[in-house]
Amino acid sequence: MRDQLRFLKGLAERPRMTGAVAPSGEALAKAMARHVDPADERPVIELGPGTGVVTKALIAHGVAPGRIIAVEYSPDFCRLLAERFPDITVVRGDAYDLDGSLDGRAPKVSSVVSSLPLVARPLGDRTRLIEAGLARMTKGTPFIQFSYTFKGPVKPIPGRFTAEASSWIWMNMPPARVWLFRRA
Ligand SMILES: C[S@@+](CC[C@H](N)C(=O)[O-])C[C@H]1O[C@@H](n2cnc3c(N)ncnc32)[C@H](O)[C@@H]1O
Repeated sequence: MRDQLRFLKGLAERPRMTGAVAPSGEALAKAMARHVDPADERPVIELGPGTGVVTKALIAHGVAPGRIIAVEYSPDFCRLLAERFPDITVVRGDAYDLDGSLDGRAPKVSSVVSSLPLVARPLGDRTRLIEAGLARMTKGTPFIQFSYTFKGPVKPIPGRFTAEASSWIWMNMPPARVWLFRRA
């Protein structure tokens, strides 16, 4: 209930950035986390972690907290994340300026897991973000993103990256799918 209230506060203050009326459900968070390799020792970048539902699922999936670098814009959510997950790295910054926010950290990563409300941004920004994430990853590993939309947040670009959607996760409000983007 407290997280719901925090979320509504975020929505009132920054509606386009918060982009949802409630934190992601556990089923959705689990469906995202399962695409991350817990045995890979490289960092995992989490974008827009909010209240930490996906962070918690990543840790439950076996990802060591010390591998997680969470990039979050809201100072309130940053404080909450640092309290809840003292062993992760919380970066207060703009995920769409990934290089600037990471400031030299994590040039190569295992995965990028994003809960950003992508569709609130112009298509060019979304595409640049996906490609900035993929540039840090090994070919074949996915940039993981959830979306409530039917068409998905970004169309694949032949020769650059592919897009694949999960089936609908109905145990989420609203129902969502997990999109996996991979370098072509
Ligand atoms: C849909 S909510 C995330 C929900 C999260 N999975 C949860 O359940 O709490 C989107 C999150 O992305 C953050 N966000 C939005 N735009 C951002 C940006 N440009 N850089 C970093 N974080 C951003 C918001 O502050 C919010 O925490």
